[in-house]
Amino acid sequence: ADGPLPHQMVAAVPRIRADPLAFLASVQARHGDLAAFPMPRLPVVLVSSPTAARRVLVDNHRGWSKRTAQYGALSAVTGSGLLTSDGEVWRERRRTAQPAFHPRGLESVADESVAAARRMRAAWPTWGGVVDVDAGGLQATLEVVGRTLFGADVAQDGERLVTAVLEALEVVVGRVRTPLPAWLPTPARRRLRRAVQELDEASAALVARRRARGTSPDDEDLLALLLRAVDAGDLAPHGLRDELVTMVIAGHETVASALTWTLHLLAGNPSAQARVAEELDEVLGGPDDRGGRSPAWGDLRSLVRTRAAVEESLRLFPPAWVVSRRALAEDVLDGVTVPAGTTAVISPWLLHRRPELFPEPEAYRPERFEVGLDRAARAAYLPFGAGPRLCIGRDFALVETTLLVAELLRGSTVRPAPGERVHVDALVTMRPRGGLRLRVDPR
Ligand code: HEM
Repeated sequence: ADGPLPHQMVAAVPRIRADPLAFLASVQARHGDLAAFPMPRLPVVLVSSPTAARRVLVDNHRGWSKRTAQYGALSAVTGSGLLTSDGEVWRERRRTAQPAFHPRGLESVADESVAAARRMRAAWPTWGGVVDVDAGGLQATLEVVGRTLFGADVAQDGERLVTAVLEALEVVVGRVRTPLPAWLPTPARRRLRRAVQELDEASAALVARRRARGTSPDDEDLLALLLRAVDAGDLAPHGLRDELVTMVIAGHETVASALTWTLHLLAGNPSAQARVAEELDEVLGGPDDRGGRSPAWGDLRSLVRTRAAVEESLRLFPPAWVVSRRALAEDVLDGVTVPAGTTAVISPWLLHRRPELFPEPEAYRPERFEVGLDRAARAAYLPFGAGPRLCIGRDFALVETTLLVAELLRGSTVRPAPGERVHVDALVTMRPRGGLRLRVDPR
């Protein structure tokens, strides 16, 4: 990932970095659904047709690997974790981690999500005011990941780990790739090395504390499973560190983004918000002072509109806005032959805006998900990817985000904050630049 880039690509870098989403849209508009990027020596194709995307991710997944620049850059931080590894290593890791994501574990995800949302709401001004919902959401989702996956109160070690991960990611994402040889200690490389070192220490501290506290054989949280795998000799200690870091990267900011964009979209769409509020009143009885109660696991089936509000937000602002694969052998996508070594860039952000599948694609309409997408639209809706590499935390994330929204909005309304300008930064995930402030009021 550190090698020199063809000069055409170098010329495009400022444009890609300034606004990657606009760049993707312009490539698609100019070159169609199977668009070769202007990079002669490094075949890269932007795959925007649902059939070709499914060919890569599902039907011929064995023919495509994760050895791409995107995951190569991430693996500087995650090592060989579940998200970035491939082949046998990946299969083994997935098998080890899977029990931690079993549906029976979702009930504690539900409990922790509601508890985290209550703490978030407790910090909102009683009589209304402007709050940074993104900052609050990052804290809440950190608490949920920490408590459910690591079985620990993350106050100290978890926060240290997350800070270290964020710092390392910033270096990886913000790095202007240089044609200098890899051994030259550029400032960015020194910064990355320092960040990774801090990250190693932070995860070691988290593990040491858990070891000291002890695990019982009944513990089914991810950290307990991984510790047992290490003790059984099935997982190297650095593999444990890689998984912890992977889960922080994959499971923290993504959910925080989903929450922030859902609140942002509801703030801008009063009628959609009113429909959610109506449902919350019906299911939960409304705010505390009107005899209402917090949502719980058992309410999820009834929170149809709330969940649809989240799913429609994941359509317009998919936190994972691109995924990528590299062809292990020649393949045929929509009748077009692509050579071995081709990188396929698949953008849920683009796929979710196809007007023939999602009429009026820019409109926020949760009703699409209340009635259910038709087959063709469902096949193109990929906020969590598809195929064997489907997000392992999909249900976790949907339960968490739906209950965060339900607990936050059962007693409050959100509106755009006066003068707030929202800028989308497409980094590792889609983030609001500088946070996102909303006006919150009791209802
Ligand atoms: C994989 C999205 C939440 C853990 C993925 C992939 C996507 C995704 C698109 C597939 C990447 C690819 O195919 O290249 C999201 C979104 C989330 C979310 C949008 C929130 C709204 C979570 C949570 C966790 C998690 C909460 C863990 C607690 C993972 C892991 C993988 C993954 C470990 C790699 C799975 C594998 O390759 O076997 N996620 N994710 N994600 N996600 Fe998530």
